[in-house]
Formats: sequence, structure tokens, C-alpha cells
Amino acid sequence: MVDGFKLHAGFFDRAAQETLVGAVRLCLRDAPLYTPAMPRSGKEFSVRMSNAGPLGWVSDREGGYRYQPHHPATGRPWPPIPDLLLQAWEALSGYRAPPEACLINWYGPGARMGLHRDSDEQARDAPVLSVSLGDTAVFRIGGAEKGAKTGSLRLNSGDVAILDGAARESRHGVDRILPGTSTLLDTPGRINLTLRRVTIP
Ligand code: SIN
Ligand code: FE2
Repeated sequence: MVDGFKLHAGFFDRAAQETLVGAVRLCLRDAPLYTPAMPRSGKEFSVRMSNAGPLGWVSDREGGYRYQPHHPATGRPWPPIPDLLLQAWEALSGYRAPPEACLINWYGPGARMGLHRDSDEQARDAPVLSVSLGDTAVFRIGGAEKGAKTGSLRLNSGDVAILDGAARESRHGVDRILPGTSTLLDTPGRINLTLRRVTIP
């Protein structure tokens, strides 16, 4: 596996996962899921997104990939990052400052995410912390360069993955979701919560 990649399998127990799902639903009531689009082509993502925190990651045809303090459709500020997530960052990140963005990725059973690097943050010395809830994902990760060898592993509900060091610069994505592998959500699918520090503290 890539240096700096760490998997904390089952970090959140079932009760904590349920608390998190409740907190995410509250966020989504305030900041509804929307369908992002690729820069230039305008091709829609299969994953729907929202955010929590002072900054949220968004993408659309005209503006491209970026962080902004408000929801692209409602214009309202993003809701605060749920406490349990801030605590997980504190416990696992080893970073000197709190996260500023919590990207909420909602994967329906057919959704996937192509290989990409997380490169829109200034604070590249901060790890990325990623929480999986609901159906299992087949996660792929490799080197920083296009065409580098990749490997895959499963991310299950309650797992926390950390991308630090070389893994922070790695290309990664989600090949597919395995429907019916979790009873956490009342519909097939997966929620991924990605915590990132954006600005240099
Ligand atoms: C991402 O890289 O933005 C999402 C990864 C995941 O869904 O596990
Ligand atoms: Fe990513």
C-alpha cells in the first residue's frame, strides 16, 4: 500500500455511525445534496455532494474545482462540522489546526469516483481524513503520477482512512459500491465524509 495511507477499520462503532448519519441528515436539511459538474465539459458527477464547515469543496462547469464558504444553490453558509468528526480529526490527524471542510459525498448504488488527487488545498501538509458510512466501497489508490500502479481495498461502514505523507498526494478513487453490504442507511448507498484543512494555519 502507499506510504502514509492508514486504515482505522471500524473506528466508529454502530452507535457512533448512527449518530453520524443523524448529524449528516441535519446538515443536508440545511445544505441539500446537489449534483456537481466537471470543469469545462460540464459532465455531471455520479456522486451527489454537500459540505459542512467554514469552507466547502464545489465544482461546476464555469468555476471549476474550488472551495467556497456558501452552498452553490442556496447561497447559505455551510452548516458546522459535526462534533464527532472534529473529535476524530483531533484523535487521528496529528495536525496542529482543525479541519475547515467536510465534504459530504453521497454514492447511490451505481455511483463511482474516478481517480484524482486532492490538490485544491493550500495546507498540503495536513492529512485528509475520510469516513465511510453505509455500503462498502471498493477504493483504489496508487502513486501520484498518472499511469502509476494502483491497488484496491474495501472501505466498510465505520472505517476511517487517513491520507498522509506520500498518500496525501496519491491518486485515488472509488471503483464501485457493493449494495446490500450494510444495514446502516435506509436506502442502498454510501456516505463518505472527507475532512480537510484548506488554508495554512
Ligand atoms: C474522495 O476522494 O473524495 C472520496 C473518497 C471516498 O469516497 O472514499
Ligand atoms: Fe479525494
